[in-house]
Amino acid sequence: MSRILITSALPYINGIKHLGNLVGSQLPSDAYARFMRGRGHEVMFICATDEHGTPAELAAAKAGVPVAKFCADMWQVQKDIADGFRLSFDYFGRSSSQRNRNLTQHFAGKLADNGLIEEVSEKQVYSNADRRYLPDRYIEGTCPNCGFENARGDQCENCTKQLNPTDLINARSAISGSTDLEVRETKHLYLRQSAMRDDLDKWIDKQEGWPILTTSIAKKWLHDGDGLRDRGITRDLDWGVSVKRGTEDWPGMEGKVFYVWFDAPIEYIAATAEWADANGLDDMAWESWWRTDKGAEDVHYVQFMGKDNVPFHTLSFPATIMGSGEPWKLVDFIKSYNWLTYEGGKFSTSQGRGIFMNQALDVMPSDYWRWWLLSNAPESSDSDFTWESFQGGVNKDLADVLGNFVSRVTKFCRSKFGEVVPESGAYGEAEAAVTAEIAKRLKAYEKYMEAIEIRKATAELRAIWVAGNEYLQSAAPWSVYKTDPDAAAAVVRFALNLIRLYAVLSSPFIPDATAKILDAMGVEDAGWPDDLDAALSTLPAGHAFSVPDVLFAKITDDRRVELEEQFSGTA
Ligand code: 2FM
Ligand code: ZN
Repeated sequence: MSRILITSALPYINGIKHLGNLVGSQLPSDAYARFMRGRGHEVMFICATDEHGTPAELAAAKAGVPVAKFCADMWQVQKDIADGFRLSFDYFGRSSSQRNRNLTQHFAGKLADNGLIEEVSEKQVYSNADRRYLPDRYIEGTCPNCGFENARGDQCENCTKQLNPTDLINARSAISGSTDLEVRETKHLYLRQSAMRDDLDKWIDKQEGWPILTTSIAKKWLHDGDGLRDRGITRDLDWGVSVKRGTEDWPGMEGKVFYVWFDAPIEYIAATAEWADANGLDDMAWESWWRTDKGAEDVHYVQFMGKDNVPFHTLSFPATIMGSGEPWKLVDFIKSYNWLTYEGGKFSTSQGRGIFMNQALDVMPSDYWRWWLLSNAPESSDSDFTWESFQGGVNKDLADVLGNFVSRVTKFCRSKFGEVVPESGAYGEAEAAVTAEIAKRLKAYEKYMEAIEIRKATAELRAIWVAGNEYLQSAAPWSVYKTDPDAAAAVVRFALNLIRLYAVLSSPFIPDATAKILDAMGVEDAGWPDDLDAALSTLPAGHAFSVPDVLFAKITDDRRVELEEQFSGTA
């Protein structure tokens, strides 16, 4: 048994995320966490809201609510949606927590002690119309790297380049649109990332088997001229972690806060501390996941994120950890995702184009989304969501293959043998053959899950369901029954055991259906099938079950057309 620490990128607090955000971190990390728990490992699965920085302030201002209240309310909204999608976080924290404030200030203090923080008098953009500085998202303009016209002051969404507000061409205020901007001098703290280039380079080189998407982005920013230049980690904002050196005030930094990307990844650690607090545990409980001097040396730490987050997780955050000189756990594997597009184009919040997490749950059950998104996860390239593909995935995979199997077997059994596992008859070659086929597929499924190749894992799982269907189709107990009821009973007994096995194997992806099936089969033992033959005799003759309600309702063409219109952005 291993100890596996899993973190999902922290969603910004400022709005409800769309399905692309969900499939880029929270959903695959959840499937992975569920799988690893199923395999008997000790898992700590952490997520939180990313509450600081300009997005939160801007959104709160737009909503006309004080930013602290805005964040508290939105945390609850995001938590409820996460529950709706059955995201099984051990803790869903908040980056504005006291734990995170303390830890962020602690790291800044250590970095300063180690000579890795520099005080720089720098040029900041000041808006005369807004009478304030315009850090990060308060300013927009053209990206000097790729020419994208709506780049923000901290990063270009188009080419992922990290920027400073003064880099933008044709800059304008995001608050008022004013271009009456001037550059003023103010003092800020810089993290000397460039001093750690060699350490970071060596560390990345050492990683084996990381996705190419992850390492290529990391290497690009490491070697691409100014990719790893020193970066300001403080801002002229009210909302955030106030700048302190450990617990001491930092002269000259009064009224400033840390940059959101400095404190956000530290929240992975802090949220684990929040988890310990919430459960009445001592510091050792969370430190054993994060401090290699306190038990974390055997922890395997995996991070999930969209590709735009990779530079921060491969360079800036490791620089913070390494630079502290303290024995904090570094990540072991970074899984990153490409984009999900919507009907061939971009999701657009402003135009109402595409599907947001709350809307998704209003129109379809969580399992349908989980299955489609994970079986089409943008792992090796971008994926495109279309309602037609979604309808196909639900109707074919879930309803026709899995749902139909469960329904046919349980109903046939009820009609001929009652709602108990029938006793007579013996297994023969057909059962041995399908068991062998499933054993082979199961190995592949496990291998892909361990490697976090989620999409390939779902293909194996689907093939396992299909194998059962084909077995049933050719064993045809409904015709065999007429001449040889005992033989039909054996087929049904075997198929009922397949149903239980399918529920267990499917639980990382469709947990609601799994729970319904296990409940109907009257099963407490949902343990992973380490021994397939044993797993396929879990339900003994005489075991009572009930026929479950329809597991997956098909999506009609009319309904699909309705949904296409509803989310087209033109309605
Ligand atoms: O891109 C985002 O949505 C960020 N809020 C991710 C932060 S991940 C972590 F470092 F906190
Ligand atoms: Zn760009």
